[in-house]
Parts: sequence; C-alpha cells; structure tokens
Amino acid sequence: MPIPKAELHLHIEGTLEPELAFTLAARNGLALPYADAEELRARYRFQDLQSFLDLYYELMAVLRTEEDFTDLAEAYLARAAAQGVRHAEIFFDPQAHLARGVPMGTVVAGLARALDRAPERHGVTTRLILCFLRDASPESAAETLAAARPYLDHITGVGLDSAEAGNPPSLFRAVYEEAARLGLRRVAHAGEEGPAAYVREALDVLGVERIDHGLRSVEDPALVERLVRARVPLTVCPLSNVRLRAVDVLSAHPLRAMLEAGLVVTVNSDDPAYFGGYAEDNLRAAADALRLGEDQVRLLARNSFEASFLDDAEDLRAAYLAEVEAYTF
Ligand code: ADE
Ligand code: ZN
Repeated sequence: MPIPKAELHLHIEGTLEPELAFTLAARNGLALPYADAEELRARYRFQDLQSFLDLYYELMAVLRTEEDFTDLAEAYLARAAAQGVRHAEIFFDPQAHLARGVPMGTVVAGLARALDRAPERHGVTTRLILCFLRDASPESAAETLAAARPYLDHITGVGLDSAEAGNPPSLFRAVYEEAARLGLRRVAHAGEEGPAAYVREALDVLGVERIDHGLRSVEDPALVERLVRARVPLTVCPLSNVRLRAVDVLSAHPLRAMLEAGLVVTVNSDDPAYFGGYAEDNLRAAADALRLGEDQVRLLARNSFEASFLDDAEDLRAAYLAEVEAYTF
C-alpha cells in the first residue's frame, strides 16, 4: 500500500481520461475530432502551459450534466484512493463551464454527489476549491464568485489558475478580498511559468495561505527565506512540470533542493490524465529521479496533511498524521 497522503493540487477537469471523454461525448451526442482514445492520448505532447490548456478546455466540452461531473469525480476518487490519497482538496474551473451554458449549480451538485459519499466509498475526505481563470477578466471572476454564493456550503476556498504569464495576481485583489469576507480560504497558482514576483504578489496582495507550484521561487533567495520562515506550503507537481517544460527532466527538478532549503513542499498531480500519473506516481517518480530518502518521502506525506485545510477537523488531521508516522516502507 502506498504511503498515506493528501492531494492539494488537483484540477478535477484534468482527471478526464480519454476513455471517459469518449463515453461522455457519446452520452451527450457530441463528436470529438479524434478517432478514438488512443489517437487522443497521442496528442498529449505539450510545448508549454498554453498548449496544454488549449486541449484541456477543448475536451471539457463533454462535461454537460450533473451526472457527468459526478462520474468524473467518482473516477478520480477511485484512482486516488488506490494511490494512498486519504484527503483531496480539489480545484474546479466553473468559468469554463458557465461559458458553455452549464450552470454553477449543475457543476457543484454533480461534484458534491461524488465527494459527499467518498469517505464511505473510498476512505477519502475532500474539500472543494473554486478557481478563477486569470486569463479571464477580474469582473468575470467577481461574477463567478457571486454565482457561487448559494453553494458556499460545498466550497472551502478559492484559487487562481490558467495562463500565468502576463496575468499577475494583483489583478484579482478585489475578488480575493470578497472571498476573504465570505470566509473562504485562499490559494493561487504562482511561479509555474510566471516569475518569483508573482509569488510575492499572491502573498502580499491576495493574502494566500498556500502557493500552487511556486517553482520559480527558487530564483529569489530572499523569497525562499520568507516562505521557509512563514512556513508557506508550496504544492509542487513534478510530472506536470516536466510535461509542460517548466523543467527539462525530472532529475533536474528543484524539489529536493526545495526540501533541503526547509520549504514546506508537497507533491501533487495537477492534471493527472494529461501528465502521466496520479499522486503516488508523482511521488515515486520524483523520489526515484531525485534519490529521495525514506525520511524525505515521509516528510512530503506529513507536509501534505499539515498544509491541508483540515483546520475544522483537527482529530482527522491527527489521525492521518499518525498513519504517516506508522507507515513502513
Ligand atoms: N489549469 C489546469 N492545470 C493548470 C496548471 N498546471 N496551471 C495553470 N492552470 C491550470
Ligand atoms: Zn494546477
């Protein structure tokens, strides 16, 4: 059994496997411009973040009904559980669905149905994080948060994703202030393709508690010192970074150096259907390529629960942490 872990950086739309995309397309009477799942999978070669996002948004067209979102989340939870995930904090991109005429209520109710039964079915607890698309306008983000107001019982926090370069965190100050007023937790993608300065902005302007990716923080020693001192978690995604060419090869990934610098790093899968692996696949691949020791792997697992938004369930967090400490490799 893989080591128990929390997954804190996972886009539910990025768990859409080609086979499920074809099943949902057929169910909804839609045609995909690929002969079959194999031909589609062969397209999963990306030059950068944007070339991935183009396919990611295109394939989402198959997600139309509540049942589609339930099936998507159910498939992810089953795979995650098999990889030792005990707790998952799951991103979703409502603007991409609203733009296609799929209402917020359909998306949230569909996801919530799978998430609510996951503790019994899969032994996995969950939280849901609504992401704003940073390549859409701040006004669109504000409208999206307003549309989510009736569903906040299901939503723990907000995030910021999509094309990073040229779309700095500071554009979204107002909507993050509103999210804070509503009692939502705050995270943001920063330092994936964008500069270390975006990581600083996410902290200083948006008030985020975790940084998603944060890879390019390592270019700024004073920022690293600050992140270490304040124990700001970074949700790193090794296989994603290789597939989107943020790093050349896994053996050149800064994960080990980040750990050794004292950063609170976690390992996550980002968009596992597209990047070749789920949570344990990422952990194993990184541990092998970077020759991480068992102590470092255990630290990554411990960090994942400590960085999670389980503050309203400290008994559960303590139980998960005890499982990590008791784990034998
Ligand atoms: N949306 C889905 N995956 C993403 C990533 N890795 N970076 C930014 N936006 C995303
Ligand atoms: Zn991401």
